Amino acid sequence: MNRFAWKGQIYHTNEKRELKIFENSWVLCENGICKGVFGELPEDWKDAELTDFGDKIIIPGFSDLHVHAAQYSYIGTGMDEELLGWLEKYAFPEEAAFFDLEYAKKAYSCFVRDLRKSATTRASIFASKHVPATELLMEMLDKTGLKTYVGKVNMDRNCPDYIREESAEISGNDTEKWVSETIDKFENTKPILTPRFTPTCSDEVMAKLGEIQKKYGVAMQSHLSENQGEIAWVKELCPDTEFYGEAYDKFGLFGGENCPTIMAHCVYSSDEELELIEKRGVWICLCPQSNMNVATGIAPARKYLEKGLKIGLGSDLAGGSTLSIFRAITDSVVASKLRWRLVDQNLKPLSVAEAFYMATRGGGSFFGKTGAFEEGFEMDAVVIDDSALYTPKKLSMHDRFERLCYLYTDSKIVAKCVAGKMINLE
Ligand code: GUN
Ligand code: FE
Repeated sequence: MNRFAWKGQIYHTNEKRELKIFENSWVLCENGICKGVFGELPEDWKDAELTDFGDKIIIPGFSDLHVHAAQYSYIGTGMDEELLGWLEKYAFPEEAAFFDLEYAKKAYSCFVRDLRKSATTRASIFASKHVPATELLMEMLDKTGLKTYVGKVNMDRNCPDYIREESAEISGNDTEKWVSETIDKFENTKPILTPRFTPTCSDEVMAKLGEIQKKYGVAMQSHLSENQGEIAWVKELCPDTEFYGEAYDKFGLFGGENCPTIMAHCVYSSDEELELIEKRGVWICLCPQSNMNVATGIAPARKYLEKGLKIGLGSDLAGGSTLSIFRAITDSVVASKLRWRLVDQNLKPLSVAEAFYMATRGGGSFFGKTGAFEEGFEMDAVVIDDSALYTPKKLSMHDRFERLCYLYTDSKIVAKCVAGKMINLE
């Protein structure tokens, strides 16, 4: 039996999205599973492996539900563009470079290293259309111990020749071969179906992905209702659908039994679309930084939370410009305030606790039971030294946590585990 306990200043959220604070407490882990938080170490845990982290902060690891690994090399550039122009000028040319495995190795090494050292413990990732580079990324990620889904991207129409897959048949066959070869290959990394978005995927490809989904029970991710131009385009391309989500649903690629699905953005989802999202149990992934950078808009996060929809946060690199989910937390709060002031006074802003919930429990639920220090949850934990965020003021525990979220760049991660296994932070 493998048992360890960590002592520190512990924070997580409960099901009601409230911040729970445990000062000078112990969090316990047995065989990868959390046994809860205790003010005093239980008598029968005295011979477990004990680490006292003193005044350091312990939080559940973050889940990044939407990130493009093949866009990491150009983060922080291209920010004067809007979504569709940005895809043409930045995303597509960069992703095309991943046909070259040497380049892919260099670029993915940076991404994997930085993700490993971040406060993220789980992620759902877009690669590029190239199978060899996607498998390389999966191998690299698997070795880190982080729990990840990785998608080979499908795109067989409405994109430049140099990045478009040659035919629907090749796109579908490559995908099935890749899924069948990787579905049981890795301990920590799984394939996830990844049609880029409806505009770049023909009906033939979508139908084939629907078949693969049924045959292998594989998870699914894509983009949804991110930008108004994109939504109008989908309407033109799919005249038989009432709303964008139906363009995935009609191929069996929109949640439901046995098809766990993440849809990134949902900035402009209509009530009908939300109804289907709810019915099918689709996870919404909010990517506030990307939505601001490529000027798509502000998703009504409060509405989604109040409806009880499944919801998590994503960095959406390189629409987003940082891997840090702390930034996604504070951006989602700030964006909700602007939306409240400028768009809809009925939707009050998010609190930091609610955003922290989305980053941990909300997104974590896509991976099973993780994202909180409750008994029975998989133990993903991050220990943070925030001493460099010095202030002479005596802060409450709540304010110390809020400040960490806003000022995270000067803090240091000193330990991290995923499902109870330590992650190398070197
Ligand atoms: N829609 C289709 N492809 C992309 C992408 O790479 N990034 C974002 N943010 N939206 C997309
Ligand atoms: Fe994206």
